[in-house]
Amino acid sequence: MSDLIHTLRADFPALAQQVNGKPLVYLDNGATTHKPQAVIDAISQFYAQDNSNVHRGAHTLSDRATQAFEQARETVRDFLNAGSTKEIIWTRGTTEAINLVAHSFGAQLQAGDQILISAMEHHANIVPWQMLCERSGAELKVIPVTERGELDMPAFDELLTDKVKLVGVVHVSNALGTINPIEDIIAKAHAVGAKVLIDGAQSVAHWDIDVRALDADFFAFSGHKLFGPTGIGVLYGKQALLEAMPPYQTGGEMIEHVSFSSTRFNGLPFKFESGTPNIAGAIGLAAAIRYLNQLDRDALLQHEYALLARLRERASDMPELRLIGDAEHKASIFGFVLNGAHPADVGTLLDQQGIAVRTGHHCAMPIMEQFGVPGSVRASFSFYNTLDEVDALFTGLEKAKLFLL
Ligand SMILES: Cc1ncc(COP(=O)(O)O)c(C=O)c1O
Repeated sequence: MSDLIHTLRADFPALAQQVNGKPLVYLDNGATTHKPQAVIDAISQFYAQDNSNVHRGAHTLSDRATQAFEQARETVRDFLNAGSTKEIIWTRGTTEAINLVAHSFGAQLQAGDQILISAMEHHANIVPWQMLCERSGAELKVIPVTERGELDMPAFDELLTDKVKLVGVVHVSNALGTINPIEDIIAKAHAVGAKVLIDGAQSVAHWDIDVRALDADFFAFSGHKLFGPTGIGVLYGKQALLEAMPPYQTGGEMIEHVSFSSTRFNGLPFKFESGTPNIAGAIGLAAAIRYLNQLDRDALLQHEYALLARLRERASDMPELRLIGDAEHKASIFGFVLNGAHPADVGTLLDQQGIAVRTGHHCAMPIMEQFGVPGSVRASFSFYNTLDEVDALFTGLEKAKLFLL
């Protein structure tokens, strides 16, 4: 396996550099992943050769751009196993995808309705619902999280009544690493007539998603956390739901006919894509998916679990380290604090050793508060990380301890 990982690392030019005089150990994949050369090449080829606006040009370059852009949508459809490209809406990322649902699907909500989210959500899956509640008079309910960092499923069962119109839940928590039982959540929510939005920002990079097998109503993710570019993301929505939803933003591209007395909207997916889209971003994201498709993703996931097992083993030998989130089902996202040390100081000392982690509240303040910490250190791993890098993290932490504890 380690030979394969070293071969794959060579596909990611950013990994082969020194930072602060040390080989880069990049453990901030939850924030954003690095890009394989194939993605960099696809974007640069688009700008060097095909650059043009989509859907409206009467010339060859525009045809080429449109074809590549719509082919990218088909690549995403296939990746998610969605039934139709009409169900694949380009957004700027997970945040915009959730805002789209909150504004558009949310337009039908009224006083007496409830939205159910969990205590471990990213702010992107909290604030849009809070704002919707303010607009509509609906009520926001929160599924509690246990001490280990798992959803309290008996509490979920109690909260789930026919007042709930939408359940919004994160697939993998960016702060705790917890993998949530979304199959169960979706089935139970459907039984009371609620729709379900899955925040897939942290899951897509680790394993394949099948929105039809999951029966998810909405699924959101960001390209940049999936080895693709920033500024592009996807909202998957079931066609019947999207058809019934009003547009989110308005302007060009999303209309069929405009006069000063009325406007007829374009069909799906364009109804939700006003203005010139991120064409190069979509093409880059499709290149990332094609890159992933030629890998054995199950084997790479097993490698990530081996990294996690080593992390857990090394952590158990460091009594000053307190895990923030220790769920039974956990992705390779490792949040912790070193007792007595501020996470930002730990991050700075690790950076001096070439080790990139994230520190702070990870845009998940409520769950940090529940764990009684202002923030944590988060080392988030990808398939291109190695067991040696796990060890480098702990060597780095030993050094940090000498300064801080
Ligand atoms: C779980 C989760 N949801 C949503 C987001 C927001 O993603 P983006 O900033 O790409 O829109 C993130 C980003 O860290 C995340 O980890």
